[in-house]
Amino acid sequence: MGQQKTILRALAGETQAVPPIWMMRQAGRYLPEYRATRAQAGDFLSLCYNPELAAEVTLQPIRRYGFDAAILFADILLVPQALGAELWFVTGEGPRLSTITTEADFAKLGPAGDVHETLNPIYETVRILSRELPSDTTLIGFAGAPWTVATYMIAGRGTPDQGPAHALMQENTALFEALLARITEATIHYLSAQIEAGAEVVKIFDSWAGSLKGAAFEKYALEPAREITAALKARHPGIPVIGFPREAGEKYVGFHKATGVDCVALDNSVDPEWAAAHVQVDGCVQGNLASRHMVTGGEALVADTRRIVQALSQGPHIFNLGHGITPDADPDNVQLMIDTVREGAGQ
Ligand code: CP3
Repeated sequence: MGQQKTILRALAGETQAVPPIWMMRQAGRYLPEYRATRAQAGDFLSLCYNPELAAEVTLQPIRRYGFDAAILFADILLVPQALGAELWFVTGEGPRLSTITTEADFAKLGPAGDVHETLNPIYETVRILSRELPSDTTLIGFAGAPWTVATYMIAGRGTPDQGPAHALMQENTALFEALLARITEATIHYLSAQIEAGAEVVKIFDSWAGSLKGAAFEKYALEPAREITAALKARHPGIPVIGFPREAGEKYVGFHKATGVDCVALDNSVDPEWAAAHVQVDGCVQGNLASRHMVTGGEALVADTRRIVQALSQGPHIFNLGHGITPDADPDNVQLMIDTVREGAGQ
């Protein structure tokens, strides 16, 4: 096969005795070194747009833990900002954006091909990382899936049930679909530029896929992921893509085939034994330890980690959490998870 990096081998379909491992939000507030660099940058968005400091926080968890992959430090909401939406973060609350609910709001957005002007610093972060990462560490680029990004653009913030986005989908389907198409096109430009700068894998985060039911899941989760994956693979033959339709439940089944992604990331509501039988049969899976174990640790962490490794050991698997690590996590629990995953190594 010729692929040396463990993550790329898993993505190519290889079953490994010890699964490679990385962690969503591995650069984040649970790490004191992250908090220090973020303070130096001033605020979260300044950190995202400062290539040297963004590369530094990307490297911190690699130095501390030796993960098999680094994920570019950025945010899914930079694409709306590059399209012309206003974006700011309220400390302790989360993101805020100017809202898109009318044709007039939509008309203010710029063309998809113009996003590079804002996003150039992100590509510079990728270039720095591809020089500085250890030779066995895979660099993952990412973007939000169009539906998830649209939920924030329509509501102007995170919402528990994505109500405003569902309302626009019902009340003005044409506008809703035009917005999704614009985000899809911008995402193809953005991910393509990350790949050109040195990203070796890209991941599409559809954090709110679980609220799309029936035909809406097909039209607004599967179809955009298929379109983005096809466009990237046409431009960059062989580029591996990870899809994360979070909380898709039964709809994880067939996701590889319907979209063309090389790997499906699983949230922790899915049993690993079920995923082995119904999802991993179609290709690599990633996941899916509950993030709360990074707060609580102990025997339960070890037992659940072993169960996941065991259940997914008969096919290609990348070990990860089911969602991002939270700021209240204990860095020692991350080490315990890694040691548990790798305990069988060399046997
Ligand atoms: O995984 C990584 O380490 C890479 C970097 C990354 C961030 N956000 C950094 C971040 C990635 C891949 C994301 C994706 C992201 N951003 C998603 C999809 C994945 C998911 O978690 O469901 C979403 C929905 C967002 C939007 C977003 N960004 C929200 C809702 C928030 C606030 C919530 C919070 O945790 O405070 C952010 C901020 C954010 N993005 C932080 C980080 C490290 C915290 C910012 C800080 O330092 O204050």
